[in-house]
Amino acid sequence: MIEVGIDKIGFYTSNYYLDVVDLAKARNVDPNKYLIGIGQKKQAVINPTQDAVTMAANASINFLTEQDKQDIKMIIFGTETGVDNSKSAAVYLQNLLGINKSSKAFEIKQACYGATAGLQIACDYVRLHPDDKVLVVGSDIARYGIKTPGEITQGGGAVSMLVTANPEIIAINETSTFYSEDIMDFWRPIYSRNALVDGHYSNEIYLQFFQKTYHEYLQQTGKKIDDFAALLFHLPFTKMGIKGLKSILDEDSDEYKRLLEHFENARNFNANVGNLYTGSLYLSFLSLIANDHGLKTGDLIGFFSYGSGAQGEFFSGNIKNIDNDKYRLPIENMLSKRKKLSVAEYEKIYEITLPNDNSDFEFDISDDKARFVLTGRKNGHLVYEEQSDRML
Ligand code: CAA
Repeated sequence: MIEVGIDKIGFYTSNYYLDVVDLAKARNVDPNKYLIGIGQKKQAVINPTQDAVTMAANASINFLTEQDKQDIKMIIFGTETGVDNSKSAAVYLQNLLGINKSSKAFEIKQACYGATAGLQIACDYVRLHPDDKVLVVGSDIARYGIKTPGEITQGGGAVSMLVTANPEIIAINETSTFYSEDIMDFWRPIYSRNALVDGHYSNEIYLQFFQKTYHEYLQQTGKKIDDFAALLFHLPFTKMGIKGLKSILDEDSDEYKRLLEHFENARNFNANVGNLYTGSLYLSFLSLIANDHGLKTGDLIGFFSYGSGAQGEFFSGNIKNIDNDKYRLPIENMLSKRKKLSVAEYEKIYEITLPNDNSDFEFDISDDKARFVLTGRKNGHLVYEEQSDRML
């Protein structure tokens, strides 16, 4: 049977970050609560000249060839922080990237699960149409209120994946197990830029959905824990993955210690960027293939995707080719070039946004070196610009 999965992958986050130790001091919290208890080091602060569309375009531009753009028949945009309540971010993305117009472009919303829904739809589509390619992105800005418990779990960025037959990176297996239920653990009302959350309840539901889908997966496939080289998690904050591992394994067991070692590689990038919502699980995958030197071709990787509200899905894939540096170097380079903000600067940027009416507005884009930027709004239209001379 034909193998289908992720052939290319890219990541983008903005050029500002906040050090969580500075945030802890400003909020009168012991820094170890954020560093160890939450498991974060740095948090991306999204430049006002970036939104879900520009971040997705910036994540895609460096790996798409002209041939890919012709072969793409579907663009699936997973986001819970989209730019319009009607028009999909995928259509803006198609235009910015110059993708073949004979394609289907649409957006998927189910909290942090959207990109996984997109990936599964893409794999099914390519299984039926093996000559076609599908672009799947997860792009979001994670925002809570200033001085709320959720503040430490903010972040943002985009992961973009090209799904094809005979993929270069990982083949996704057909079986997956899923569960959904109407639950109020985290949501964002239509009037609000910030998410509302019942934090501890959301952790509990996340773990319940993980255990349910994971055990069902083992039952359906006959696989055992030692068949997995690594388990990956949706990471709203990186401690969540540790909670996931502990929920199925004894901390003293060899299996826990083995999987924890791989998870340390898989949480490296996430600890330095924060929550990406839809992109988080796939940033963790990137972190694994970039930083884990123990992986080899054929290794089985388990993925747990969670979207509050709530949807969980467990699936797996087999690693095809390993080239750590190819993924590690560009991301380390991007992260190392970011500018550190003070808490006061972060709080100021947090407030900057397009006016909440249809008026014209122009952002100062001088501090944003990304290839694609949002320059403002004119005549009710969002204005995106490609700065071709200012490569990432
Ligand atoms: N040193 C080390 N650890 C410390 C510490 C210290 N000085 N002080 C506290 N800690 C530990 C605590 O023991 C706790 O550890 P455990 O979770 O292992 O028990 C951890 O730090 C966090 O402490 P609290 O539980 O007291 O933290 P909190 O009440 O301030 O809130 C939170 C934590 C609920 C995660 C909050 O940040 C939040 O609401 N975040 C947003 C919601 C969220 O991310 N939910 C995740 C599941 S939902 C989802 O996944 C979808 C999504 O993307 C949002």
